[in-house]
Amino acid sequence: MVTGAARPFDWRGRPVLVTGGAGFIGSHLVELLAGAGAQVTVLDNLASGSPANLAAVADRVALDERDVRTVDWADYLTAHPCDVLFHLAANAYVPPSVESPSYDCELNFATTFRLLDALRGTGWPGRMVFASSAAVYGNALRSPITEEDPTVPISPYGVGKLAAERYLAVYSRLYGLNLASLRFFSAYGPRQRKQVVFDLLSKMSRDRERLFIHGDGTQVRDFLYVTDAARSAMMVAACGALRGEAYNVGAGTQCSIDELARLLCEITALSPTFEYSGVNRPGDPEKLVVDIRRLSSLGYRPQVDLAHGLARVVAWFGEVTGETWR
Ligand SMILES: NC(=O)c1ccc[n+]([C@@H]2O[C@H](COP(=O)([O-])OP(=O)(O)OC[C@H]3O[C@@H](n4cnc5c(N)ncnc54)[C@H](O)[C@@H]3O)[C@@H](O)[C@H]2O)c1
Repeated sequence: MVTGAARPFDWRGRPVLVTGGAGFIGSHLVELLAGAGAQVTVLDNLASGSPANLAAVADRVALDERDVRTVDWADYLTAHPCDVLFHLAANAYVPPSVESPSYDCELNFATTFRLLDALRGTGWPGRMVFASSAAVYGNALRSPITEEDPTVPISPYGVGKLAAERYLAVYSRLYGLNLASLRFFSAYGPRQRKQVVFDLLSKMSRDRERLFIHGDGTQVRDFLYVTDAARSAMMVAACGALRGEAYNVGAGTQCSIDELARLLCEITALSPTFEYSGVNRPGDPEKLVVDIRRLSSLGYRPQVDLAHGLARVVAWFGEVTGETWR
């Protein structure tokens, strides 16, 4: 049982480390943290992130360009002490883990393990939030999914995230570290250059007549706007029990890929014919519907609904590609 009530947490002047902070979710998190007055250091090798993602806060945030796989964490944390650590650096996508499980295992699991072990060794008193994933559930047996439901990952990515989560739970219990995992479902928003929303827009931009959709369009997801995802990470760090527990992070709503594509068509005023592959991609579950009561118990409420969030993504897509949809 996880309890926790919203309590004041003052981010002003706090040293905060965000691994993967130049990426999609990370950069939005860094913006919110900097806005709240935290002293943020971003540790990122820019494998998929970019300094451009941090342009709005470049004068207030330190970017340390490094590969987390080769960091000596005990030395690093002594040189860069932090009160709060958000560990987001990862291969953030299922397909690369299917193609190269060892790369995913080293980056997503082994690196997280080494970080935790360094925290154990130094008796770190701070708070750490780890970016896990809905992929830990695999093809969920129940719907909506609660944190207590069985975890049966169906991709190397899901296995790596689950293994890291389990170490967090055990290290918190055994060594008293303040740790929690966030099981992100489908975060979307500006700066995301992969996953279904960006894929659909890219295809619509290339071909106005036909829209190719993986599977049969009935796959169900819970889409969460990225600033809501970032706020949830701050809320868990500030108010969570941090006893090694995991939190589902979603909007608590469901949307099929067909519905998502139709919403994008409405916003762009396009009307392509939908074509389906008929088969899901390897490692992609059919249905992910999420119960967010544990997160909600901390006072969390999503602020941006899907229609408004998608409109913002379409606007951003236009800015970065010049697409006008005419
Ligand atoms: N976006 C989602 O819907 C979603 C869903 C589930 C879980 N997650 C998790 O949330 C986290 C952030 O995901 P995202 O969507 O922002 O992805 P992203 O790829 O935009 O961010 C990952 C960041 O990690 C950095 N990185 C990668 N390898 C690194 C390395 N070896 N050393 C240092 N930095 C490295 C990248 O440059 C990038 O900035 C990831 O841990 C991901 O697994 C995201």
